[in-house]
Amino acid sequence: MRKGFALLLALLLLAGLTGCAGKQDTEKEESSIVVGFSQLGAESSWRIANTASMEQAAKDFGYGLMMENANQKQEKQIDAIRSFIAYQVDVIVFSPIVETGWDNVLTEAKQAGIPVILMDRMIATEDDSLYTAYIGADFYAEGRRAGEYLVRKADAIGAEKLRIVEISGTLDSSPMRGRQRGFMDVIAQDERFTVIDSVSGDFLRTKGEECMREMLEKYGNDGFDVIFSHNDAMTLGALDVLESTEGISKDLIVITVDGEKEAVDALKAGRINCVVQCTPDLGLSVMRLVRELTEGRSILKTNSPEEGMFSDFDNLTDPRVEGF
Ligand code: AHR
Repeated sequence: MRKGFALLLALLLLAGLTGCAGKQDTEKEESSIVVGFSQLGAESSWRIANTASMEQAAKDFGYGLMMENANQKQEKQIDAIRSFIAYQVDVIVFSPIVETGWDNVLTEAKQAGIPVILMDRMIATEDDSLYTAYIGADFYAEGRRAGEYLVRKADAIGAEKLRIVEISGTLDSSPMRGRQRGFMDVIAQDERFTVIDSVSGDFLRTKGEECMREMLEKYGNDGFDVIFSHNDAMTLGALDVLESTEGISKDLIVITVDGEKEAVDALKAGRINCVVQCTPDLGLSVMRLVRELTEGRSILKTNSPEEGMFSDFDNLTDPRVEGF
């Protein structure tokens, strides 16, 4: 436990912000550990499920959770981290909206002796000592899975030329970069595939709609064959537009990432062809790392969950094919 007064203040604040996180599980006796958590926003069902997972896990462990939601603003995340340092929380967990621009504030956390866990998203830094661990998906592997699906699909339908539009996530974010790089690494050398455009939809459903309108205006109803979208929210927005537009080819190949229920249902209904999984359920693993750190044990620097994908090559009646 860090300094008493600051902790008391933090806990009082906590009670006001999130309600006291009392012990609801047998993992641990009620503890004085306080975790400062900067969530980047509430842009998608993925993010909402991720926040819920963190809140539930903190309760299960009996940890106090000081959570701040940054509403997609990096400055707000930086302010939140500074406030966690001022309160001398035990561990800072945050999900960086973009990869760059964190060195100063993380140096402050390091100087204050507070370990930092990057949850869900990575940062780009020359100095790996600025964070203690990363826990979240391997976004590059997710992008590769999307590319591998497309190669298999092209083989199966005997396609000779496929024009791809990409709807990317937030520019400069690690899922956007990793998914794009992984996908391109698989398809770039194959002459059947051309990415004709890439637009950012910021992981938002409304922006997915806007991106699709833009693509239809630019290329017409028959101007592309494949949509690779970096998350379900944007994909579902794009589908809303596509399905209300006359004359769209029914053979469009739609590839998405996340695995929320609405997208998996759309896969089962034949509206989406491939759903690459990305689990939002990171809370328990995060709190286990917090416990190990606060007990003075060493932890792995990189921790990624096992993930897979569902597609129209699978038996979609299998009960294991389900979304979050
Ligand atoms: O960082 C994970 C991504 O962020 C998810 O794929 C997306 O839905 C979320 O907004």
